[in-house]
Amino acid sequence: MEDLQCCVTSCEKPLDQAYWDAQYKAKATGWDLGTVSPPIQALIDTIEDKNSAILIPGGGNSYEAEYLLQQGFTNITVIDIAPTLIEVLQQKFVNHPNVKIILGDFFEHQGQYDWIIEQTFFCALPPTMRPKYVWKMHQLLAPKGKLVGLLFNREFEQGPPFGGNKVEYINLFSGAFTIEKMEVCTNSVAPRANTELGIEFKKNAEAKVHLYEFEGITCSGCKATVSEKLASLDTVLNVTMNSNFSEVVITSTEKVALKKLQDTVSFDEKYKIIKANY
Ligand SMILES: C[S@@+](CC[C@H](N)C(=O)[O-])C[C@H]1O[C@@H](n2cnc3c(N)ncnc32)[C@H](O)[C@@H]1O
Repeated sequence: MEDLQCCVTSCEKPLDQAYWDAQYKAKATGWDLGTVSPPIQALIDTIEDKNSAILIPGGGNSYEAEYLLQQGFTNITVIDIAPTLIEVLQQKFVNHPNVKIILGDFFEHQGQYDWIIEQTFFCALPPTMRPKYVWKMHQLLAPKGKLVGLLFNREFEQGPPFGGNKVEYINLFSGAFTIEKMEVCTNSVAPRANTELGIEFKKNAEAKVHLYEFEGITCSGCKATVSEKLASLDTVLNVTMNSNFSEVVITSTEKVALKKLQDTVSFDEKYKIIKANY
């Protein structure tokens, strides 16, 4: 997977705007396919409504946006955090009002999309952000919206990219999404052959998906106990706590009062659950 090695600086550094911008400045973009990814091209070819609102988060050089444009799509948005890249994209799409280029953090973005296209954005984020990614995707999708694209079905020695597998994705996305498809792709580019899962996750518009900050947990055993207790509450469909125990996403059929959540975890006085400030 040489094509995916992207670090020009130490991977211990935070994966923030400065990090990503440095990759573009150094042209250290090993993930860049130079063309639309074949499984995503095939997926785009199935979208009938050319006026669908489509978001490409962490879009990089955005060959997918180019392809959408060529196919006559009229409402394409790309958001990426790297200013150096965004300058290039603004030039590339300068005469194309159907493509909106946004410099910004996906997690602060507001909007409503029918389709969100995932390609090497999820795997570029620190794994601690995975529950928050699910929460944000749910928020940004229209009631019948879908998250589609590719997720890795393998691990990497050092990230980014950070790997994953089907079981992890089912545990993360269930409740907030209906997993309509998650299969190993047969048309990946050669260096990624048999390592990509083609996904189609439909938003569960009935689900309430809320992000909370959590304090007080210091080990995986306690995380499991707390998660089980929260998951056992009436109406709760899924509970996903991140790997450093600082955030938890609770998906339920009805919003659960914060007081009830706090009472549920109050068996240990160190535990605090706080509504995230978004
Ligand atoms: C591995 S690259 C993938 C780029 C593109 N999707 C591709 O496949 O060629 C990850 C991209 O996500 C962007 N990114 C990372 N964190 C982001 C965030 N919080 N909000 C928006 N973009 C982000 C980076 O700048 C980078 O362009």
